[in-house]
Amino acid sequence: MNSIKDLHLEFIKNIMVYSDKFKLLDFKTNDTRIFGLLFFEPSTRTCLSFESAIHKIGGKVLKLDYNSSSKNKGESDYDTIKTIEKYVDVLIIRHPEKGFINECLKFIKKPIINAGDGDGEHPTQALLDLYTINNFYDLFQDKPFKIGLAGDIRYSRTIHSLVYLLNKINKNIEFTFISIPQLLPQKGDEFYNYINNNCKNNICYSYSMNDVKNQLNQLDVLYMTRIQKERMDFTFQNNHQILILSEDLIKNTKDNLIIMHPLPRNDEIPETLDNNPKCKYFDQVENGVYVRMAILHLI
Ligand code: NCD
Repeated sequence: MNSIKDLHLEFIKNIMVYSDKFKLLDFKTNDTRIFGLLFFEPSTRTCLSFESAIHKIGGKVLKLDYNSSSKNKGESDYDTIKTIEKYVDVLIIRHPEKGFINECLKFIKKPIINAGDGDGEHPTQALLDLYTINNFYDLFQDKPFKIGLAGDIRYSRTIHSLVYLLNKINKNIEFTFISIPQLLPQKGDEFYNYINNNCKNNICYSYSMNDVKNQLNQLDVLYMTRIQKERMDFTFQNNHQILILSEDLIKNTKDNLIIMHPLPRNDEIPETLDNNPKCKYFDQVENGVYVRMAILHLI
């Protein structure tokens, strides 16, 4: 089809008629669901594990290539999302702004999955983290359990969602936040308010890297994170002492300690530790597909 000038009148009328037919039939006859992947921020695991999960449950993927999209012509993210809603059955959205997905719920009628909103939340990561932990412990039983969260607690959405989730299912979990003061939860922040209102009796802060060995030796789970430099409105000095794991640091930890990381990592876990049986971050990567299959299936 090159030019409208070449089209026969009959063909044009038929397009109108068939468009009506397809509009009426679409949802009723087509039970293959289309999932829109809208990532306004970089992603490897979340995006590709969703894509893999969609293929495995027999769905179809429509993926926005943000860099070649009409944002280059000045289109807003709002208009982009409103548009893609018309093409898909479910929207999976990642956005750099905290609260953005919550805003989308006001103007989008189709189901939306938050694939990470700024330094807010990352619920599907928390669910796959829970699934990974539960392959070793049963957190649904209200037994005491110690989890250490290290690195960037202030800006890591994975930590925020994981704490909300674990606190929902088991009130006997003790959380130890291991970081430098700048990267611990800050007064006034939503996460700070949440833990102080809901986990008051079971949180512990560790500011001192000197007693970190002692802290680590008590844990059942150690959840590491990278520093979220892209979210900081201050220049982070690399000479700040955050937790960097080593064989020596984990030498006397519990036999059944599991070490987790949502990835990507920077230098907080050296690759030389990857074969240590306590390290489970690539289990998390694999579980991400199964947990996302379950989420998509249930939605
Ligand atoms: C995390 C994220 O995007 O929040 N990665 C992930 O989804 N597996 C962690 C991070 O970026 O540090």
